[in-house]
Amino acid sequence: MKLINKKILITGATSGIGLALVEKLYQNNDIYIIAINEHKIKELQSRFPDVVAYQADFSNLIALQDVVNVINHEIQSLDLLINNAAVQYTPMFTDNDFFVKSITDEITTNFTSICYLCYFLLPLLNQQHSAIILNVNSGLAIAPKSTSAIYCATKAALNSFSQSLRYQLNNTQVQVLQAFLPLVDTAMTEGRGSSKMSVDKVSKAIIKGIEQTIIDHDIGKVKLLRFIDRLLPSLAKKIMREN
Ligand SMILES: NC(=O)c1ccc[n+]([C@@H]2O[C@H](COP(=O)([O-])OP(=O)(O)OC[C@H]3O[C@@H](n4cnc5c(N)ncnc54)[C@H](OP(=O)(O)O)[C@@H]3O)[C@@H](O)[C@H]2O)c1
Repeated sequence: MKLINKKILITGATSGIGLALVEKLYQNNDIYIIAINEHKIKELQSRFPDVVAYQADFSNLIALQDVVNVINHEIQSLDLLINNAAVQYTPMFTDNDFFVKSITDEITTNFTSICYLCYFLLPLLNQQHSAIILNVNSGLAIAPKSTSAIYCATKAALNSFSQSLRYQLNNTQVQVLQAFLPLVDTAMTEGRGSSKMSVDKVSKAIIKGIEQTIIDHDIGKVKLLRFIDRLLPSLAKKIMREN
């Protein structure tokens, strides 16, 4: 899919990789975003006045559904849905002050909301001769690390969901793609890890993957991780465990 004159909805577009995608796609496409923070939405719209923005907290499915109803009313069709928004909590289950509600918040934001968006926006995607859902995934879907257990599990669930949805939509014009990202230099990974890939490189790679319809697109070091996981799954697990 050539990303010119397309209607593109990006979630979590007010920072990190989502924002970099807006920066690269804005010039030649109609951009719609769903984001949580009103202030950041205003900031983004001051840079990109034609962006149509909707506000929603993805951990609140009722609020999300309200927004999706509005979108269905206001937009007649959609070429590309980029499910990018996510959160990563790091506390361990063994921590004394572990916040139990964070479990459902993280699962709802990273996984359930995506299922909702795919379901409720499918009619808009089906209006086009060819449309794409791109789910932003992680190398942690292949092998988890010890911290961020829920985050890793949501990404593994997203991988499974994306594959099943792909089968279900096989006879439609909607394709389901995934981009598996390595460690990227964004707010999500602040103070963690080293040799992170830049947002600029990652967003360019994501766009290339969409334009070339790469079904499961391994970006940067994820290519090597996938290779190791095929040959020696126990080594892949060991590498990722303390990542
Ligand atoms: N960074 C990495 O190393 C890495 C690696 C693999 C995969 N990924 C994936 O890449 C995607 C983008 O992450 P990023 O690295 O760009 O992180 P980021 O800069 O923290 O961006 C995450 C986006 O999600 C939004 N968001 C968080 N909680 C939300 C909620 N409850 N409701 C609505 N929006 C919410 C954030 O809103 P605000 O703008 O208001 O903060 C932000 O726009 C995610 O799917 C992430 O899992 C990242």
